Amino acid sequence: MVSRVIPVEPFDLVIFGGTGDLARRKILPSLFRRFIAGQMPDGAQIIGAARAEYDADGYREFVRQSLSEFGPNDASKEVTEAFLNGLGYVAVDAKGTNGWPELASKMRDGHVRAFYFSVAPALFGDLADRLHSYKIALPDSRIVVEKPFGHDLGSAKLLNATLAQHFSEDQIYRIDHYLGKETVQNLMAVRFGNLLFEPLWNAQYIDHVQITVAETVGVDGRGGYYDTSGAMRDMVQNHLMQLLCLIAMEPPAQFDADAVRDEKLKVIRALDPVSPHHTVRGQYSASPDHPDYRAHVGNPRSRTESYVALKTHISNWRWAGTPFYLRTGKRLRARSSEIAVVFKETPHSIFGPEAGSHRNALVIRLQPDEGITMDVTIKEPGPGGMRLIDVPLDMTFAEALGPEVGEVPDAYERLIMDVIRGNQTLFMRGDELEAAWAWTDPIINHWDETKDVPKPYDAGGSGPEDALMLMHRDDRKWREIR
Ligand code: BG6
Repeated sequence: MVSRVIPVEPFDLVIFGGTGDLARRKILPSLFRRFIAGQMPDGAQIIGAARAEYDADGYREFVRQSLSEFGPNDASKEVTEAFLNGLGYVAVDAKGTNGWPELASKMRDGHVRAFYFSVAPALFGDLADRLHSYKIALPDSRIVVEKPFGHDLGSAKLLNATLAQHFSEDQIYRIDHYLGKETVQNLMAVRFGNLLFEPLWNAQYIDHVQITVAETVGVDGRGGYYDTSGAMRDMVQNHLMQLLCLIAMEPPAQFDADAVRDEKLKVIRALDPVSPHHTVRGQYSASPDHPDYRAHVGNPRSRTESYVALKTHISNWRWAGTPFYLRTGKRLRARSSEIAVVFKETPHSIFGPEAGSHRNALVIRLQPDEGITMDVTIKEPGPGGMRLIDVPLDMTFAEALGPEVGEVPDAYERLIMDVIRGNQTLFMRGDELEAAWAWTDPIINHWDETKDVPKPYDAGGSGPEDALMLMHRDDRKWREIR
């Protein structure tokens, strides 16, 4: 099986913050990969825009270095030069007039125009104003904005209102890079492309759902941002919430942007408020080779969480009674993200109590080793009576689809190309984002008001003891992080 590459329309993509970290690590390498894959049409123009005074050659050199650091590194010299030749640069002052007429003069008629705001949200309004007043953005141009999209509901509403002054909702692409992950999209394919699961996909058959996003990295290097954010704002409000929506939403009538986003929004609005007893926060401790969280962020009294676990319910017909457990944290045992849909036990065991308790689980692994497994109960091989064991039916995508499929593309590759194609299905709509904050805010406010202090947990472990208790109290357990 060979993956298909359909070139997009000619475009001009301006990256504000074109010298920043995200541009270096993700945006430019992803564009280069799409270039190598042949998805960029002739004449596509990528323009870096930032404060730094580069000329076009200087910027190309900067990008060359970024690519050698963050890949891909297997391209020939000719291909690399061809990509770099398509790059331009304009030094702009986001709050002043410098650079804007020059940027306007670089735009090409007939090209799709996209503007990537890879800058602090405080600059969104200034950029939007100038794109409008210098007539650089047209009624069908697109803007791409990154998280953090607000700090709470109030600030998110303000940002939405600021952008709405010059751009309509169908021009705004709010990135949640989890939606661009291959397996996250596969989740929708599996749910809505197979008849098998839907009849069982409800509280009658599903005991609970657990969503884990575990990371081994700490917050070194980004403590300034992270300590004002914490795991709840950084991961749960967006990435884990999106995963929960895709698992829980009703089948949309079509796979199009508004149909999918309408269904996700309904899920968020049906989420119960989370009881303070159903949340656990943690901070990682020091290990022999790493300082603890507080040292990493340079704040000895920090009360920000680097780990959070919680239990929530969705109050609708499909899910009433099925808890959803979410957890995410830094400096854990392994980098491992998965969603486990754990089914109920059979109503009656014909094998008697000694057969033990068994549950099917559908596990969607986002990373690493993207794939899906289904735990099924079978007879333990050999003589000696009917002993039951659970074994996984394993569909690791890389194995199932063969080597020709190549590397799993980075989420940003898919998402940036979707911007050019004008497809918003994998981007968050403003109302969806606000609803997610409306659910998150009371949880965070409660921690602030009660001066809650996160529990320490071992670096390289699986999170605070209390998080295990959150499940044990319900006679359930987390899957191992590995
Ligand atoms: C980002 C968070 O959105 O997602 C980071 O800000 C986190 O804190 C990252 O490390 C995780 O993304 P991935 O793709 O590595 O799972």
